[in-house]
Amino acid sequence: MSDLVRLEVEDGIGTVRLDRPPMNALNAEIQHGLVAACREAAERSDVAAVVVYGGEKVFAAGADIKEMETMSYTDMVDHSGLLQDFTRALARLPKPTVAAVTGYALGGGCEVALACDWRVAAEDARLGQPEILLGIIPGAGGTQRLARLVGPARAKDLVLSGRFVDAREALAIGLVDRVVPAAEVYTASRELVSRYVGGPSYAVRAAKEAIDRGLEVDLETGLEIERQLFAGLFATRDRATGMRHFVEKGKGPAPFE
Ligand code: HXC
Repeated sequence: MSDLVRLEVEDGIGTVRLDRPPMNALNAEIQHGLVAACREAAERSDVAAVVVYGGEKVFAAGADIKEMETMSYTDMVDHSGLLQDFTRALARLPKPTVAAVTGYALGGGCEVALACDWRVAAEDARLGQPEILLGIIPGAGGTQRLARLVGPARAKDLVLSGRFVDAREALAIGLVDRVVPAAEVYTASRELVSRYVGGPSYAVRAAKEAIDRGLEVDLETGLEIERQLFAGLFATRDRATGMRHFVEKGKGPAPFE
């Protein structure tokens, strides 16, 4: 794994920490590092949920413009798969994920946040897809995930103008889920996903997959995805534990392992 991206694990929660001051600009090394960190978080049994965090000052100000400036069309044909890989790795992570957004989340940085299940933002956070101002468009899923999250009209407003939104507006349009004082972003993000530690991990995984895969297909195909995942859970210990706990009138939450 790259030094620019670390996976730090504590109390069942993995923190994918971006660490490339001053702005966490996402160069190729950090993009590869994100893919590796997501793979490790997916595989480790001591990680039930993931927080993506860029530190106290900034989430990420986008792809590294200085690295991209000299790239040709053919360079980008080779590289653009990686751009989508690092956000896909995050979006496909079979565990709940939350972006803890401090400061700027711009361009590829906003796209990293969009690939998470939820976003907690600092009161002074600024989000946006300013690629248009560089003569390009979002390339790490922004045109697709932003439109699915906030609707096509709002996505076009942000992507075609490149304007930034503050945390209050981001909350109002559903781009972020919670706004908290800057000093509390990381803790609030951990709290949001801590409920999944020690829970029915296969059902959580199946629920996330059914919703995400279902959004990519027509209703009938989505219902079929749900049906198969639902039936599959009857092969898990979690299902047996959860139902037995109810039938035997157990107290509190079921003792999932
Ligand atoms: C490379 C960057 C950078 C970036 C900031 N820096 N963003 N370097 N790539 N994306 C560098 C600056 O050049 C500067 O380096 C240092 O970080 C501090 O930035 P300043 O601009 O001096 O800070 P400030 O005035 O506070 O402005 C902060 C900012 C601004 C609003 C975030 O830096 C900015 O607009 N950055 C670009 C944002 C952007 O366009 N992102 C989209 C990128 S394209 P020096 O060496 O001068 O100190 C993209 C494509 C996605 O993401 C495709 C798929 C991934």
